[in-house]
Amino acid sequence: MLRLACWLGLGLALAPACTGAAAARSAAETMDILMWNREPVGGPFALTDHTGKPRTDRDFRGALMLVYFGFTYCPDVCPTDLMAMTQALDLLGADADKVQPLFITLDPERDTAEHLADYVTLFHPRLVGLTGRLDAIQEVADAYKVYFAKVATGKGTDDYTVDHTAYIYLMDRDGKYLGFFPPGTSAERMVDIIRPRLAMPQR
Ligand code: NI
Repeated sequence: MLRLACWLGLGLALAPACTGAAAARSAAETMDILMWNREPVGGPFALTDHTGKPRTDRDFRGALMLVYFGFTYCPDVCPTDLMAMTQALDLLGADADKVQPLFITLDPERDTAEHLADYVTLFHPRLVGLTGRLDAIQEVADAYKVYFAKVATGKGTDDYTVDHTAYIYLMDRDGKYLGFFPPGTSAERMVDIIRPRLAMPQR
């Protein structure tokens, strides 16, 4: 969600609005691990794409992966970052074929495959939306050191938002972690980082 992501991403001195009881680790712990490379980032996943097809991380070997976690009802940060990813791919031109953009939902209850199908078309034609069971989502979020927590906004079961950290992860052709782009990274900056990687020979 907008606020937590901005607070974390921009380092402003504001406490997160929610302690995230469901999460094993706090937002600060998760961010600390990521910032200082304290633990490996990334790993295998088995999810369902926006066409309803089962997909694993292995399906994307051979391309650099741009991995983003969010949710389709996110009002601001997710669409902004996904738009920047889309623009970066546009700037890469033909080389964009060697980069696979992925959007993994942190709100699998509302973000069904059908719902994701509508959402991904708002961005890049090659953007793959991924959803799955909550435990599978929790597992991949933990692997990528993503913090997320459901926060009620009203009394209804659908009245909630999702606080989450918002980084764009860059993975190499073997699915190994290279680094992250913080929220608000421009498309041009992403391209400056991605291009030299594309020029490196494949192992
Ligand atoms: Ni968001």
